Amino acid sequence: MGASVCIDGALVAPELASVPVMDRGFLYGDSAFEVTRTYGGQPFALGAHLDRLERSCERLGIPATGLGAALRPEIAVALGAAANEESYVRVIVTRGITDIGLGVGRGETPRRVVVVLPLTEQPAALYEDGVELATVMSARALDGTGAAGAKASNYLPNILALAAARARGGYEALSVGPGGELLEGATSNVFLVRGGRVATPPLGVGILEGITRRVVMEAAREGGVEVEERLLFPPDLYGADEAFITSSLREVVPVVRADGAVIGDGRPGLVTRRLAAAFARRRDALLAAERG
Ligand SMILES: Cc1ncc(COP(=O)(O)O)c(C=O)c1O
Repeated sequence: MGASVCIDGALVAPELASVPVMDRGFLYGDSAFEVTRTYGGQPFALGAHLDRLERSCERLGIPATGLGAALRPEIAVALGAAANEESYVRVIVTRGITDIGLGVGRGETPRRVVVVLPLTEQPAALYEDGVELATVMSARALDGTGAAGAKASNYLPNILALAAARARGGYEALSVGPGGELLEGATSNVFLVRGGRVATPPLGVGILEGITRRVVMEAAREGGVEVEERLLFPPDLYGADEAFITSSLREVVPVVRADGAVIGDGRPGLVTRRLAAAFARRRDALLAAERG
């Protein structure tokens, strides 16, 4: 069991793995990334993650042609070298090296990095008891730019939002946009349930199109529940019967409090539990389809 790192196709001892300080990923956070986890050793929704990575790079103007095809075998090699039962998989693509200065378009060669670590299981209490959200007014790194919604590596706004949320006793920060609209967690998407109807903020507000968000929406639709994508505001959150957050590492986590207010009866709700189960079924079906 262990860690493994693959840089531009070459396995490197994890304790020695490094990128040059002149790499723009280090200098400016000028890079995009993905995180997924394995189930039975198989990375979940790898095709969807690699497609999103290519789209993120395109939005950032990082050359992305053939990226997914290059990364697939590198991820397989890194997973093989780590030999974990289950792994955390992080893939990073930086714009590479240029002379110092912000300007781009000087023939950069993107750098590919794959990091595999043993997966840390989430505490059962997250799912059994639910968590608290704390809303945080925050502009995220790409808000208002043409690249909004790309999974760029500059997570400083998310890091600061999470720290602010944790200081108020929250488990996850829920960012709120300039118009007071709910956006997304520091590393998750959010869903609300009211009167049996499920809603989540629309992609147009600039949030990341979470892979878990998408699979939950597909699973809900299969079960006859349409998830509405619409603008939501803090009163919708406080007045919800149920709420939950989604992410690749945590799947579906019930939310039972927000900014100190109790949501529903303060316990993980029935619709949330049903959607979590529907997600798990669809996840397993997708894994089986990906195995071919
Ligand atoms: C800002 C942000 N939103 C949403 C998500 C959830 O995305 P996914 O379900 O693809 O993991 C993440 C995951 O890290 C994230 O960082």
